[in-house]
Amino acid sequence: MAESMKDLKRSHRCGEVSVQNVGESVTVMGWVQKQRNKGGIIFVDLRDRSGILQVIFEESDCGTENFAKAEKLRSEFVVAVTGRVTRREGAVNENLATGEIEVRADQVRILSEAETPPFPIEADSKTKEELRLKYRYLDLRRPDLQRNLMLRSKIATSIRAFLSDEGFLEIETPILNKSTPEGARDYLVPSRVHPGTFYALPQSPQIFKQLLMCSGYDRYFQIAKCFRDEDLRADRQPEFTQVDLEMSFVDVDDVIDATERMVAKVCKEAIGLEVSLPIERMTWDEAMNRFGSDKPDTRFGMELTDVSDVVKGCGFGVFTGALDAGGSVRGINVKGNAEMPRKKIDALVEFAKGYGAKGLAYLCVMPDGSFKSSFAKFMTEDELKALSEAMGGEPGDLLLFAADRLKTVYAVLGALRVELAKQLGLIDENKFHFLWVTEFPQFEWSDEEERFVAMHHPFTMPMEEDLEYLESDPGRVRAKAYDIVLNGVELGGGSVRIYRSDIQERMFEALGFTKEKAHEQFGFLLDAFTYGVPPHAGLAIGLDRFVMLLVKAESIREVIAFPKVKDASCLMSAAPDVVDAKQLEELHLSITE
Ligand code: AMO
Ligand code: AMP
Repeated sequence: MAESMKDLKRSHRCGEVSVQNVGESVTVMGWVQKQRNKGGIIFVDLRDRSGILQVIFEESDCGTENFAKAEKLRSEFVVAVTGRVTRREGAVNENLATGEIEVRADQVRILSEAETPPFPIEADSKTKEELRLKYRYLDLRRPDLQRNLMLRSKIATSIRAFLSDEGFLEIETPILNKSTPEGARDYLVPSRVHPGTFYALPQSPQIFKQLLMCSGYDRYFQIAKCFRDEDLRADRQPEFTQVDLEMSFVDVDDVIDATERMVAKVCKEAIGLEVSLPIERMTWDEAMNRFGSDKPDTRFGMELTDVSDVVKGCGFGVFTGALDAGGSVRGINVKGNAEMPRKKIDALVEFAKGYGAKGLAYLCVMPDGSFKSSFAKFMTEDELKALSEAMGGEPGDLLLFAADRLKTVYAVLGALRVELAKQLGLIDENKFHFLWVTEFPQFEWSDEEERFVAMHHPFTMPMEEDLEYLESDPGRVRAKAYDIVLNGVELGGGSVRIYRSDIQERMFEALGFTKEKAHEQFGFLLDAFTYGVPPHAGLAIGLDRFVMLLVKAESIREVIAFPKVKDASCLMSAAPDVVDAKQLEELHLSITE
C-alpha cells in the first residue's frame, strides 16, 4: 500500500547530502537501487537524478514498524527517508560522491511499490537497445542517460543565454506549414476543414526566419523541432532539434563569428573544453581534395593523393579506363600496414564497394622494398616505383587506390580513411577538432532527377565572382554557404541568403523551376522581398548532434529522451499506428491496399 507524503518535505537530493551535513537530520526521496538485509541491519542505496546515497536501517534507530517496512523494500520502490547524517562506519566508497557518509534512518515511507524491472537500472547497460527503448521510461532512469539529458538542458540554457546577450530574439515559427518539396521528404498532416489538402511539418524554419528578417527583427533564434522523412542513421532522426539563427545586415564572417563564440562558450560551460578561436576554415574544394569529404575528420592524417598523372600511360586498364572516361585515380597511404592480412584487405574492398567502388586496388610496399599488388602484373617495376613514390610510400606501407569518376573516388576514399582510422585506433577520442568548410558548390547534379539541385537550399547566395556562370556553367558556381564540422560530423550549416529578387529568379530557373511554379511554392517569400528586404544570413546547428559529440555518445538516440528507431517507429508507444475509421472519414482519407 502506497503511503502519502503528508507533513514530509524533501530537504536534499540524494547526491547533495555531504560531509557538511553530518549531524543534521535530512529527508531524502527517491528510488531504491539496492536493498541488502544483513540480519539486524539493512542497507539501502537510494537513487535520484543527482546520485546515490547509502541509508542504514537498525531497529534501535527506527523502531519495529519502520524496520519491517525497510525489510520489504525492493529495487525501484519509491520511498521517503528521514534520518541523521553520519560519517560512514564501514569503508569509504570512492566511487560515490556521497561515499564518505550515510544516513541512519529513523523513518521510512513507501510512496510507491515497483515490479521487478525488465533490465537492471545501472550505468553502462549491456541491455539490448530494443528492450531499453520499449521501456524508455526505465532506461531514462539510468545514470548515463540522466547525465546526457541534464547536460543537454545545460547546453540549451547556455545557448539561450549567449544568444539573448548578443541581441537575438527567440521567436517561434509554425509547425503546420505549406509543403516545399525541395530537400528531404515532408511529413504531411491532412486538413479536416479543407478536404484533400495537407499541411507539411517544417524541415526547418528557413522561410519563416527569412520573413522575420524582412519584418525587421534583425537577429532571430529558435531551438526548433524539425521534421524530415529520410532514411535514418546514427546521427539522423525523423524529428530533431536545431539551434536555428538568422541575422540581418551581415555577411559570412559575422555568422561564423557569432556561431563560433557560441560554440566555444557552450563547450566551456558544458564540459570544460577550451575551443581556441577562430576555428580553422577550409574551402569545400580543399576538404574534398585532401579528405574526400565535406565533413572531414581532421583528428588524423591519411590524406588523399591524386595519382592520375602518374598512372596516365600505365598498363593497368582499370586506371587508364577511369581516366579515359574523365575520372580520376587517387589513393591513401595506410602507414605501416603492408602486411595487413589478405582477408582484411578483401573486407576493405567490400567496404569500398558499399560506397559505389567497382573495386579497390592495393599496393603493398614490403619491408624489403619489393611490391605486392593486385595490379603488379600490369605495370613495370619503374611504374610501380613511381606510383609508390608519389604516394610517399615507404617500406611497410599499404597503398589503396580508387579509380572512378571523381565523385565516387571521394566517397570511397573519404569513407575508407575514416573506417581505417577507427580500425587501426588512429583517432584520439579526447580530441575535439572543429572546422569550418566554406565555399560549397551552389549546385549538385542529381543523377536521379537529371538536373542540378541546390546543394544547401534555393535561397543561398552565390559568390559574387561566380554569378556570371549561373546560366552558362552552373557546376562551377560556388555559394556563400558554410558548414561547421566537429570530429567528422556535420554539426551545422548555413548561408548568406539571396535578397535580390532578380538573382532569386535566376536561381529558380537554374534549378528548373518555372516562374509559375516558383511563385506557387514560395510566392509569399518572393512577394515579401519586393517590400524592402535587408541582406541577411544565418545558420542552424543540430542540437542533438552537438550534445552527442560532447558526451561522446555513439548515436543521437542517447541524447534524445524519446527517440525513434531506424524505421521511424517508436518502440514504446508503437507510433505510427492505425486510426479509427471515423478519424479517417473526418479527414476525407481512405486507405488503399
Ligand atoms: P541543414 O539542412 O544543413 O540546414 O540542417 C542543419 C543541421 O541540422 C542537423 N540535422 C539533423 N540532425 C538530426 N537528424 C536529422 N535528420 C538532421 N538533419 C539535419 C545537422 C545539420 O547540420 N535551414 C538550414 C539552415 C540555414 O541555412 O540556416 C538547414 O536546415 O546538424
Ligand atoms: P580486376 O582486373 O577487375 O580483377 O581488378 C584488378 C584489381 O583492381 C582488383 O584488386 C580490383 O579490386 C581493383 N579494381 C577494380 N576496379 C577498380 C576501381 N574502379 N578502382 C580501383 N581499383 C579497382
